[in-house]
Amino acid sequence: MTQRLGVNVDHVATLRQARKSRYPDPVTAAAIAELAGAEQITIHLREDRRHIQVRDLKVLRDTVQTMLNLEMAASQEMVKLAYEYKPDICTLVPERREELTTEGGLDVNSQRDAIGRVVKNLKDGDMIVSLFIDPDLDQVKASHKISADRVELHTGRYCEARSGKDREREFQRIVDAAKAATRFGMGCAAGHGLNYDNVRPIARIAEIDELNIGHAIVSRAVLSGFEHAVREMVQIMRNP
Ligand code: PXP
Repeated sequence: MTQRLGVNVDHVATLRQARKSRYPDPVTAAAIAELAGAEQITIHLREDRRHIQVRDLKVLRDTVQTMLNLEMAASQEMVKLAYEYKPDICTLVPERREELTTEGGLDVNSQRDAIGRVVKNLKDGDMIVSLFIDPDLDQVKASHKISADRVELHTGRYCEARSGKDREREFQRIVDAAKAATRFGMGCAAGHGLNYDNVRPIARIAEIDELNIGHAIVSRAVLSGFEHAVREMVQIMRNP
């Protein structure tokens, strides 16, 4: 089974919000990503709206040709927006205002009732629900118990591991959690911190059907397009 690539376009919006300008538009980035082979567009509409805006969700819902995956806090405000715009997949993630990025997975085990209610609510609206969890068997079991359709395994610790031994241990946790998720009949995605150096082993895990990758792709795009962008400006200045 080949894995589907979900391109997370949040950081295109980060660049736009840095100047509150109209560009770069994550909607354009999403269309280019799909032309290049992405099979899903992923966005995280955060409570503080630091990158993706409601307008992006609205326009992407109309323009995405593949799958739209909305990462969201398990809050009433977000459930309301999900019902309004009906993304194909809702991925529930933990959210803290002061964090730089999503730092850990959801603790489904200790918040089973509250998260379970949100899962049911979204499923009743015909949305596929995924839970972003650490690769931990108890979290996988708890996700199954509350009838999540899918889980997304947080690969951050694998990506940040300094020694080969630590990385191997974190990798094994991901493999075990992915196998458990599929045994329970859930779909299994993975993401966070994946880049051009560390993605290969994760891309070989047969039980994982989707990877969501953002920061590494947007970072590479900035540098691989830089020379071209400078040349274009020099060109204009030489022939004003
Ligand atoms: N998956 C989830 C649930 C996330 O929260 C994020 C970060 O927004 C990603 C994947 C993508 O992570 P990265 O930007 O490090 O590739």
